[in-house]
Amino acid sequence: MEGKHIIVGVSAGIAAYKAIEVVSRLRKAGAEVKVVMTEHATHIATPLTFGEISGHPVAIDMWEEIHNWNVEHIALATWADAYIVVPATANVIGKINAGIADDMLTTTIMATPAPKFLCPAMNSEMYKNPIVQRNLESLRQLGYHIMEPASGWLACGVTGVGRLPEPEAIVSWLTQELQVIDGNGLLKDKTVLVTAGGTQEYIDPVRYIGNHSSGKMGYAIAAEAAKQGARTILVSAPTSLDVPQGVEYIPVDSAESMKAAVDSYYDNTDVVIMAAAVSDFRVANKAEQKIKKMDSMTLELVKNPDILQGLGERKKDQLLVGFAAETEHVLAYGEDKVKRKNLDMLVANDVSKSNAGFNVDTNEGYFVYPHGTSKVIPNMKKTELAAAIIKEVSTLLRNKDK
Ligand code: C5P
Repeated sequence: MEGKHIIVGVSAGIAAYKAIEVVSRLRKAGAEVKVVMTEHATHIATPLTFGEISGHPVAIDMWEEIHNWNVEHIALATWADAYIVVPATANVIGKINAGIADDMLTTTIMATPAPKFLCPAMNSEMYKNPIVQRNLESLRQLGYHIMEPASGWLACGVTGVGRLPEPEAIVSWLTQELQVIDGNGLLKDKTVLVTAGGTQEYIDPVRYIGNHSSGKMGYAIAAEAAKQGARTILVSAPTSLDVPQGVEYIPVDSAESMKAAVDSYYDNTDVVIMAAAVSDFRVANKAEQKIKKMDSMTLELVKNPDILQGLGERKKDQLLVGFAAETEHVLAYGEDKVKRKNLDMLVANDVSKSNAGFNVDTNEGYFVYPHGTSKVIPNMKKTELAAAIIKEVSTLLRNKDK
């Protein structure tokens, strides 16, 4: 943060007071901070406080007599290295997404070429409103960085999602996002191989044995690894997902083809994350032609190679992360598997739960380590879990290098 020029935009969420501490922490971290407030926000927190804490006059009104050309909106927009809105209300999010620039905050954020960060905070129902979600998604696609709000007690008296995260979390998120933008992501100079999707084991040219894996977890991990600066190789069984930006995509179908791809990259990777649901069996004699209807038929299955087990056996310096989909004794099975497969970490989840595992957008479970320790992963979006996994991987890599 040293020497960075940060604009903190404050809109009229009841959590606007938390932005004071954000400004203070940014300054302590070495940044120079200027504050822009919406007129409504001044009814919640005083410009005087923000002025004192930031050490600069606060910009609010577009039309007041200009005493200091440095607060003129274009000068301000050009000055910024980053622009963060804390809190970002539904109103401000909607205006930014619609291209409305009718006050100092919305005008300066539109005029700045700097990376833009939003910390949405509002009542749960407002946050979940499809219009707000659509606006956030549209801004995300336009390259805005959007922090997930926290869950908990809200000022309107209900408990739910929409809480502004604590100032410390906001500053650490902004710091990390800026590091990524500056090319200093957590996995800079590392090569990460991720497997994803459910393998397809062919019965004949038109039929296969598959599983419920959607590939969402693996794709989210690959996207996060690439974002954090890793050369990212995504070895994927067929899925309906878009390939994340910046990854090298290696399409495969069966367990055997996945193994061949993974093995060919293994020696030159730093990290392997096996998120794919690999079939334990394949058909013994794949038919060359489509099998015709008959009253009954028996398929003989033979065991597939365990790709991860093989990697564990010939591990040199690589960091190996496996996944375990269980329906019972999740932690106990995980503890056994992490040792048996010679892994550095296992993400164990209970796929019998409706909000975890296959085909849903959320997951929960445990990070299990080989020396008998584990961490609980509360229910969260797969994209958030992907970020948590990559953060953990970068910590494990750092500890390894020590
Ligand atoms: O033993 P289990 O199938 O539960 O282990 C799951 C982990 O092992 C996952 O990371 C999965 O990608 C990997 N695996 C594999 N090859 C198999 C079966 C599972 O690499 N044949």
